[in-house]
Amino acid sequence: MTENVLTASNIIKSFALDDSEIKVLEDISLHVKQGEFVAIMGKSGSGKSTLLSILAGLDQPTSGIVILNGDELTQMSEEDLALKRQTDIGFVFQSFHLIPTLSVQENIQFPLSIARKQDQNRVNELIEAVQLGHRINSFPHQLSGGEKQRTAIARALVAQPKILFADEPTGNLDEKNADQVMKLLLDLQKAFNTALVIVTHDPALAALADRTITIVDGQLV
Ligand SMILES: Nc1ncnc2c1ncn2[C@@H]1O[C@H](COP(=O)(O)OP(=O)(O)OP(=O)(O)O)[C@@H](O)[C@H]1O
Ligand SMILES: [Mg+2]
Repeated sequence: MTENVLTASNIIKSFALDDSEIKVLEDISLHVKQGEFVAIMGKSGSGKSTLLSILAGLDQPTSGIVILNGDELTQMSEEDLALKRQTDIGFVFQSFHLIPTLSVQENIQFPLSIARKQDQNRVNELIEAVQLGHRINSFPHQLSGGEKQRTAIARALVAQPKILFADEPTGNLDEKNADQVMKLLLDLQKAFNTALVIVTHDPALAALADRTITIVDGQLV
């Protein structure tokens, strides 16, 4: 039996709205096994990004428990969580979220430096894997969309996280770059045996996943 890298139990998330509150996630439970590829689908506004943020420790649920690689994210201090996000968790955003003042190489090294680690071989391996050897000294504003996202993927994987989250990672790319970035993401996920949880609107991509879960009315179907 393969162990679970992620277990979420009874996740509820509500937001205050004027005098009332809206419940976005209603009692969601799920698990992800090591190396598994899970796609999350659902209509716009159904709560996909909210769920992904909670699973990755970027946001806290109103109630419920998230256990990632043995640690209960929902009980950790903000400081411990910040370190865990750089080491055990990779996250790829639709809008890249690179650090504008750092070069490609420095962006990729960033999670290791936060963890006070140095591993130039690993950094070089990732730079090569995402084919950015000719761009290591460029800054984010000098890169194309595809190059930015390839930098972000290398950064997300450099610390060898057990799990990688991606929220519509190709949403800001044209079709050609989207295909290239997605192929890269899936190749690296397989090569490193990293679990991958991806939010997508693309049924063709979801069809490649080991499992697809869909959010309807705040619940998984
Ligand atoms: N900080 C917030 N405060 C209030 N409401 C919020 C907040 N964040 C999200 N919501 C609401 O929660 C619902 C779910 O938002 P979410 O971004 O998770 O949807 P989504 O499924 O990712 O949609 P999309 O496909 O458009 O990205 C929406 O109705 C949104 O308005
Ligand atoms: Mg979203």
